[in-house]
Amino acid sequence: MSSMFLTKYEERVLDGEFGPALQLSMRILTKIGDALGASRLIRISSAHVSGISYKNIGDAGLQFLKHLRNLGARVSVLTTSNPSSFGPEISKIVKLPEDFIAKQMEVLRILEEMGILATYSCTPYYCGNVPNFSEHIAWAESSAVVFANSVLGARTNREGGPSSIAAAIVGKTPLYGLHIWENRLPTVLIKITCDLPDDPLFYSALGYLVGSLVKKGVPLFSGIKGCSSEALRCLAAGIATSGNIDMFHIEGATPEAIMHSNDDRFRLNIEEKISIDHEELKDIIEGNISESPDIVFLGCPHLSAREIISLPRIMPEIFEQKSAEVWICTSKCQKSILPAGFFQRLCSMYKNVKVFTDMCLVVFPVEFLECKSIATNSFKAYYYLRNTSEKEIGIFRPYRHKSYYNNHTRL
Ligand code: F3S
Repeated sequence: MSSMFLTKYEERVLDGEFGPALQLSMRILTKIGDALGASRLIRISSAHVSGISYKNIGDAGLQFLKHLRNLGARVSVLTTSNPSSFGPEISKIVKLPEDFIAKQMEVLRILEEMGILATYSCTPYYCGNVPNFSEHIAWAESSAVVFANSVLGARTNREGGPSSIAAAIVGKTPLYGLHIWENRLPTVLIKITCDLPDDPLFYSALGYLVGSLVKKGVPLFSGIKGCSSEALRCLAAGIATSGNIDMFHIEGATPEAIMHSNDDRFRLNIEEKISIDHEELKDIIEGNISESPDIVFLGCPHLSAREIISLPRIMPEIFEQKSAEVWICTSKCQKSILPAGFFQRLCSMYKNVKVFTDMCLVVFPVEFLECKSIATNSFKAYYYLRNTSEKEIGIFRPYRHKSYYNNHTRL
C-alpha cells in the first residue's frame, strides 16, 4: 500500500502482475514518494544512473544490481550511466587487482543487460541525453542534476543509484521537490561584484563557495555577465559539492530566470542576499594551490570536445611544463567527435598529456597510482580526492585568465 495516488496500472505493477523487477522498482519509488510527501508518480523522459563504480558501491552494490538483473529488469526510458572505476586507457598503464577488474566489468555487463547505455560519463548532456525544457527526468550525479535543472530547465531531484534505476525501469518518478514549479523559485540572491574570468576554475570555486555559504535552497546569481556553458557545468559541480543545492538561476542567462524576468512572483521567496567579490574567490583558490604536483587532473566533470580543442591555446603552461603529467578525463562520446588524429597529435606534441575515457580520478582507486600529489582545477575533485585518498591534493594554479571560448557561442 502507498499513501500516494496510484493509477490502476501502477497498483497492478505494485501487486507484481507485471513481474518481480517492475514490482521491486515500484516498491522503491512508492517508499520514496511516501517518505517525501509525493502526491503521485509522473512520467519521465530519461534517467541517468550513478553508483556504477565498483570502488564506490562494493559487493553490496554489485549484489543489488545482480538481483535486479536476475529478476529480469530492463529500463523503459533513455538511460545513461556515470563513470566507471577505470577505462580502457588507464588499464594499460596502471595495474589493478584482477578481482577488482572482474567485479567492475561485471557491474558494467549487468547495466548493459538492463539496457543502460554505456556512456560512462557524468555529462550525459554531452552524450545524447539532452532533455527538453520543463521535461521531467530522474537523474543521479549531483553535478548533472544541477546542470539539467539550471541550464537545461529540465526537472529532476537529486536521485541516488537505486532510485534512478528504479525510475528508469518503471519510467516514472514521485512528484515532489524540484518537479514542482514553486520549489524551483529562488530563495537567496547572490550578487557577484567582480568580473569573473570565463575559466572553469573560477566557476568551480564560485559554486563551492556559494554551496558552503548557502547550504540549501535555490540561489539566484546576479552580476554574471555571460559565460560558457562549460563554466556553468563547473559552477553546477562546485555548488552541489559543498551544499545541498540542486538548482540555481542566473539573471539574464538561465532559461527560467529569463522566462520569469518580469514576473514578481519569481523573487517572492528570496529571504537573503549575499555579495561575493574577487578577493573571496581569489582567497579560496590561492589558499589551496598545489605548487609542484605530479599529476594535473582536468575533467571533473568530463570535458567537452570544444574545451579539449581549446586547451593548448588557453592553458599552454600546463602542456609546456615538464614536471607534471596532464591527465584529461572526458567521455568517449565527446572524444569521438574530435577531428581524426587529434589526440595522437596532442599526445605526440606534448609527451606529458594522457587522455582517459569512461572514468575519473575520483572514482578510480588512486592508491594504485605511484604519484605523491595531484592538482586539479575542480573543487569537486579537490574535495573528494582530499577526503578519500592519502595523496597530497591541491588546486592547479591558473597562470593566465584568457577568455576560454572567444568567438564561440555563449549562453
Ligand atoms: Fe564526474 Fe568524477 Fe567529477 S564523476 S563530476 S569527474 S568526481
